[in-house]
Amino acid sequence: MKKNNIRVNINGEWHDLTITLQDRLIDTLRDQLGLTGTKEGCGEGECGACTINLNGKAVLACLMLSVQADGAEIQTIEGLQNGLDLHPLQTAFLNEFAVQCGYCTPGMIMAGHALIKQDPDPDETKVKTCLANNLCRCTGYEQPVKAVLKAAREMRRKTND
Ligand code: FES
Ligand code: FES
Repeated sequence: MKKNNIRVNINGEWHDLTITLQDRLIDTLRDQLGLTGTKEGCGEGECGACTINLNGKAVLACLMLSVQADGAEIQTIEGLQNGLDLHPLQTAFLNEFAVQCGYCTPGMIMAGHALIKQDPDPDETKVKTCLANNLCRCTGYEQPVKAVLKAAREMRRKTND
């Protein structure tokens, strides 16, 4: 199978990767780079478990080919934590009990992360719309919505400090 080279910035570091044109981005992240925080649920764009940020926008890594990410900046759940310090979204998900089995959590957090980047002060409707494509079988949806709102507040507070 023909191989292609791509260059992608992942969590702040450029990577030169050799892929085939058929490789899905989720497989390159998980299998080639070991970034297994990004989860695969349905594999067909329905559950949101594989949500990552690509050039600041939430995208589904199961529906993208790796070659489409050439030159892009990608953030995965692994890129949010700063050393031992959790990102405010991670802290809020824990404190608001928005995590049970945790399978949907990286996707939910990355969806929230892209939203807060675009709109640092989203209202509840915007957060609900943002998380509408992320399925969770455990928590219901109230806690994740609360967690994103809380994280947005905390991030605004930090910016204004
Ligand atoms: S695994 Fe990508 S949307 Fe379900
Ligand atoms: S916490 Fe289990 S699927 Fe969401």
